[in-house]
Amino acid sequence: MNVQIDHSLEEIRRFRPSPEFAAQAVAGPELAEAASADRLAFWADQARSLLTWSTPFTRTLDWSNPPFAKWFDDGELNVAANCLDRHVEAGNGDRVALYFEGEPGDSRAITYAELTAEVKRAANVLIGLGVKPGDRVAVYLPLIPEAVIAMLAIARVGAIHSVVFGGFSADSLASRIDDAEASVVITADGGYRKGKVFPLKPTVDEAVAKSAGSVGHVLVVRRGENEVDWVEGRDHWWHELAAEASDEHEAPAFNAEHPLFILYTSGTTGKPKGILHTSGGYLTQAAFTHRNVFDLHPERDVYWCTADVGWITGHSYVVYGPLANGATQVIYEGTPDTPHPGRWWEIIEKYGVTIFYTAPTAIRSFMKAGRQIPQSFNLRTLRVLGSVGEPINPEAWIWYRHVIGGGSIPVVDTWWQTETGAIMISALPGITDLKPGSAQVPVPGISIDVLTDEGDPVDGTSGGLLTVTEPWPSMLRGIWGDPERFQETYWAKFGDRYFAGDGARRDEDGDIWLLGRVDDVMNVSGHRLSTAEIESSLVAHPLTAEAAVVGASDETTGQAVVAFVILKDRQVSAASDTEATSQELRAHVAKEIGAIARPRQVFIVNELPKTRSGKIMRRLLRDLAEGREVGDTTTLADTSIMEIISAQVR
Ligand code: PRX
Repeated sequence: MNVQIDHSLEEIRRFRPSPEFAAQAVAGPELAEAASADRLAFWADQARSLLTWSTPFTRTLDWSNPPFAKWFDDGELNVAANCLDRHVEAGNGDRVALYFEGEPGDSRAITYAELTAEVKRAANVLIGLGVKPGDRVAVYLPLIPEAVIAMLAIARVGAIHSVVFGGFSADSLASRIDDAEASVVITADGGYRKGKVFPLKPTVDEAVAKSAGSVGHVLVVRRGENEVDWVEGRDHWWHELAAEASDEHEAPAFNAEHPLFILYTSGTTGKPKGILHTSGGYLTQAAFTHRNVFDLHPERDVYWCTADVGWITGHSYVVYGPLANGATQVIYEGTPDTPHPGRWWEIIEKYGVTIFYTAPTAIRSFMKAGRQIPQSFNLRTLRVLGSVGEPINPEAWIWYRHVIGGGSIPVVDTWWQTETGAIMISALPGITDLKPGSAQVPVPGISIDVLTDEGDPVDGTSGGLLTVTEPWPSMLRGIWGDPERFQETYWAKFGDRYFAGDGARRDEDGDIWLLGRVDDVMNVSGHRLSTAEIESSLVAHPLTAEAAVVGASDETTGQAVVAFVILKDRQVSAASDTEATSQELRAHVAKEIGAIARPRQVFIVNELPKTRSGKIMRRLLRDLAEGREVGDTTTLADTSIMEIISAQVR
């Protein structure tokens, strides 16, 4: 088997679904047939069969004012009731919704009936704090049940959540609070990470102090039991207010286009974009893809997606998709290697996980640690494996299928984005012949094309730009507060076709291969980072005069942040110890933005490669960072610069 794995990069292999799998699969060929016969009727059918509407819709899509789409817009529903109450009413109240596994080893099983009651209580708490439909509530929590409960409670009362990943800094949190003018922040005292409590409440205190003053209340979940400061009147313990709140709450119906959440993601400029998603279309596509891409059988599957709710994957495939489908799922608070490197596999064994969804970067780090770790656990309950966040290299795909999946179960590589809201390209496990390394085919009802820079179809199998050619139910509805940036970023290039920012090509069979970002967005461990945002953080440091950041390929994390920094003249002597200076700058970025943005390397240099018009040529810096021979330098203002920089980097 090793020999095969070593050669898998050059080989294009296919794995046909087994007849047994195909026979029981929820998605058959009729899905794609129905979607290609009448795309809009297909989505209307999905919306009716997967969701419960308080007021049925009669209009499917309004695309009269592109790029502003409206889906099912004369219908009404409550998103949280679709994820909770209706399952209880259907007699599934005793089914476990969440198996929570805390990092220290504590665990809780929460049924749909219990989760519904908790969300109703939390909804009453929010109402008590004055939260009204359309208000923004920021969520800054570890991955504990209260994160899911908070999101659903916010949705239930018609407010808009803005979940901020718990690893982001006070500055990042403050700018997100300000951009959305959040009136309430929900946080915890702290959470567990790598065997220790990491405090969250102090970061919220700092962020609220820095912010412009929209926050009236901070709701604090007790988790880490660490000491926290308290602002009387502003701060409230979640457990105290929840204990006093009623668990009766009638879910009001909201329009299908009522905003559901804002989620910030990095773009090509320094300022993160608040991606806005609405209710009916989003939930339809999240539920549809979750059911069909993962072959969900809610009455018997145990599903686990390892994403944090701070990312879109956590929104669509931890909260909304699985719960709308009445699935039983695992959520795990901590890191994969705490307290031992087999923690994830132990969790799969403990709960009998059947469907597992994670990122290539995690798979590659497990590959490095060796197969004997997963092989010492019983993983035979697994029957579907998923991948998301970046291209999965064929070698990692094969390892995932063999070592984790026992060699015979489907691996689906799912391409999508914060902006697309739900999966757009993926194999369907009972139908598609799997091809390691390719995300494969648009899901039924989605129209994808690969275009040249000029907007023409590419020739044959050459590379081009990935576009979505028709509106889709879970598409972003805009960038919060910035309709111009929305138009400019995604629609200016190809008119009413959505430009994703990714390069792609189609092979002879029509399967799609993703080729990475074509803009200044990096992908580190499946997380999106903007070169401009990290550069502006670096130049905000008193030592720095100029900075250029590139994403260099990295064996484990996909890409890694590598920075080239010119120090201010008067600081050069103060910073004579370059090693210490680069450590300081790395720590500075981690503090300013969050640990995920910490550069792998900061090189102190005297020059940056620039064109005659002063534009930094990052391509050349990437060559250096990746240890390659430096490419064409003829457009540089001074062609000798790269030699000087190379010498300094070495
Ligand atoms: O470049 C693509 C990459 O991740 C970007 C979206 O990042 P984000 O909005 O943070 O969402 C990540 C989780 C959906 C895309 O533009 N990407 C995501 N999934 C894949 C991928 N690249 C290749 N293959 C994938 N399966």
